[in-house]
Amino acid sequence: MNVLIIGGGGFIGQKLARRLAQKGELRGKPITRLRLADLSAPPVIDAPFPVETLACDISDRASVDAAVTAEDEVIYHLAAVVSAHAEADLDAGLQVNLFGVYNVLERCRALQSNPVLVFTSSLAVFGGEVPDPIEDWTALNPQSSYGAQKAMGEFLVNDYSRRGLIRGRGFRLPTIAVRPGKPNRAASSFMSSIIREPLNGEEAICPVAPDFLHYYLSPKRCVENLIRGTELEQEQLGQNVCMTMPGQTRTIGQMIDAMTAVAGPEPAKLIRWEEQPEIQRIVSTWRFDYRPEKALALGLEADASFEENVRFYLEEDK
Ligand SMILES: NC(=O)c1ccc[n+]([C@@H]2O[C@H](COP(=O)([O-])OP(=O)(O)OC[C@H]3O[C@@H](n4cnc5c(N)ncnc54)[C@H](O)[C@@H]3O)[C@@H](O)[C@H]2O)c1
Repeated sequence: MNVLIIGGGGFIGQKLARRLAQKGELRGKPITRLRLADLSAPPVIDAPFPVETLACDISDRASVDAAVTAEDEVIYHLAAVVSAHAEADLDAGLQVNLFGVYNVLERCRALQSNPVLVFTSSLAVFGGEVPDPIEDWTALNPQSSYGAQKAMGEFLVNDYSRRGLIRGRGFRLPTIAVRPGKPNRAASSFMSSIIREPLNGEEAICPVAPDFLHYYLSPKRCVENLIRGTELEQEQLGQNVCMTMPGQTRTIGQMIDAMTAVAGPEPAKLIRWEEQPEIQRIVSTWRFDYRPEKALALGLEADASFEENVRFYLEEDK
């Protein structure tokens, strides 16, 4: 089984690669080669099988043609320009989040290799005048350029799957928290910072009120769900191969309480409450009441509590 992770240098890409190295098999077959592609060749990881890293710009068709081969039986398409970046730079968002997906799908079409292709979408595909709760069949109604580009990606993944050009499946990731490392250009970046920085003894800014509700999943569970999603047969996915990944709805206050339950009262004192209208404008369009019944029925899971997210960060990522 040859596996390619596009966006393999990113946060989820690297975590997924390490988990695959540990697991050693996928879809019932031993992994024989793993390739990690990103804008610049990603860090190599230790694995019991050969790991290659390569530079690939998915907005460039020739670069995609060189990176994606007929031997890649499973392709994870994780590369993206994240939300605040896509909002600030419409061209960058379109080039990567729309034409980048199209280039990869067209490459698969040209190869006629029918790979399993796992696409990471976002909850930002939902919004506007759509009633709660958000069900699997709720109309996509994005209110940001990032959400619109991810929605278009979902339609492409569905159509190429329906035509038998790929065995596609897409998962709308909840906000992944606690994300290790530095803040990024996602509007949701503060949702990890307010836990991660205080746990590291540093100050963090919270730009929304404690009662702000959102939908979360730990990185560890996200990777397990992507692998579970890879294992599914096409017939199990139904007529819309893209679905919401299970998560848990929490207020900022509940997340901070969970941090306090796991790590004591000191970290919460390092949070500074400071309104940021530009961030609030984006995140207030996001929904938090999801019913991911399809993914749950297919064996994907949410974390049991936000305490788990905090513990996973301390045990695996800090
Ligand atoms: N982390 C989250 O909370 C979250 C939530 C919803 C959806 N997602 C989606 O999950 C996927 C992975 O997210 P992540 O958190 O690992 O993000 P990330 O930013 O850490 O990783 C994305 C990777 O894509 C690469 N990339 C960007 N443009 C590229 C290009 N032109 N060619 C090749 N590679 C390019 C980046 O260099 C980066 O390494 C993305 O598709 C993202 O939209 C993430």
